[in-house]
Amino acid sequence: MSKQTIILLYGGRSAEREVSVLTAESVMRAVNYDQFVVKTYFITQAGDFIQTQEFTSTPGQDEKLMTNNTVDASRQIKPSDIYEAGAVVFPVLHGPMGEDGSIQGFLETLRLPYVGTNVLSSSAAMDKIVTKHILSSVGVPQVAYTVYVEGGDLEATIAETMANLTFPIFVKPANMGSSVGISKAENEAELRAAIDLALQYDSRILIEQGVVAREIEVGLLGNSDVKTTEAGEVVKDVAFYDYQAKYIDNKITMAIPADIPASIMDQMRQYAATAFKALGGCGLSRCDFFLTEDGSIYLNELNTMPGFTQWSMYPLLWDNMGLAYPDLIAELVRLGQEKFDERERHLI
Ligand SMILES: Nc1ncnc2c1ncn2[C@@H]1O[C@H](COP(=O)(O)OP(=O)(O)O)[C@@H](O)[C@H]1O
Ligand SMILES: [Mg+2]
Repeated sequence: MSKQTIILLYGGRSAEREVSVLTAESVMRAVNYDQFVVKTYFITQAGDFIQTQEFTSTPGQDEKLMTNNTVDASRQIKPSDIYEAGAVVFPVLHGPMGEDGSIQGFLETLRLPYVGTNVLSSSAAMDKIVTKHILSSVGVPQVAYTVYVEGGDLEATIAETMANLTFPIFVKPANMGSSVGISKAENEAELRAAIDLALQYDSRILIEQGVVAREIEVGLLGNSDVKTTEAGEVVKDVAFYDYQAKYIDNKITMAIPADIPASIMDQMRQYAATAFKALGGCGLSRCDFFLTEDGSIYLNELNTMPGFTQWSMYPLLWDNMGLAYPDLIAELVRLGQEKFDERERHLI
């Protein structure tokens, strides 16, 4: 049987581009080369597409992909040149211009199958405010919040926030990831500063009730028939799981499965599947919850392209369910192809 090509798109324009390089290197090492060949393409910070390595067998541990520090502009291609009949794209891109539907739309225009959520669910889940609206329509519990949109009445939002929420309050740009632009405010002056900071990253701002909570995550995999994992816990030794703590200091460990009551675990898995369906999800997502001391569950967010190195929560959650990393990659490729075939069938 001939091998299928996986087109690995990595890098990208968002603040999470460095994480993306690590993910791509992890995927290219784990792929089953009896089944696939891998062609890698780097999207630079400026948004240029650069053709990088191709692999027909497992690369060595010292094989590195191009980064923004080692860009070889002579290998630049037109974005549409990535097209190859029969290939499936794995866009290991996080954040805006990667996980928000834009790349997904580009790939659909090129008639390429791809791994992960489609245009609708990617863009809906990327916007933390739209996600809140959708989840409240299906009765999934969330922390209290207010919204500020640039150009709106800031004083009215501050007044509404002070009336309905209590400090600490979290302020987030609606469309970022990996804690970029998020801050925790302890008083009104900090709330105003936090909104100013978040406005540097997006014009839509979510202002949320802070909770003291454990952070529990559930993996989702599938198209119309979605499966969930047992939950895992992100065990923190820092109060606020920011970008530095997450990716630079490695100040987190994971407990898989999470040490929580079975009834809470079941409820979370149900909420995760409900949320995924309500958002029109397909392929994969990681659904993140807060669990407070008194047993309250709040859905925090759905990540449609979760951290995906071999040692990230999402692949480890599936590993715990008996699905090893290389098999998880193959299943995601199959689901991407299935979704593509379905889309093509509907074009009549
Ligand atoms: N309402 C909240 N209460 C307590 N901690 C929060 C709250 N919102 C966010 N956090 C902390 O900030 C982290 C990042 O927030 P999150 O909404 O998950 O953004 P991102 O999309 O960047 O992952 C969370 O993992 C959690 O540690
Ligand atoms: Mg998060």
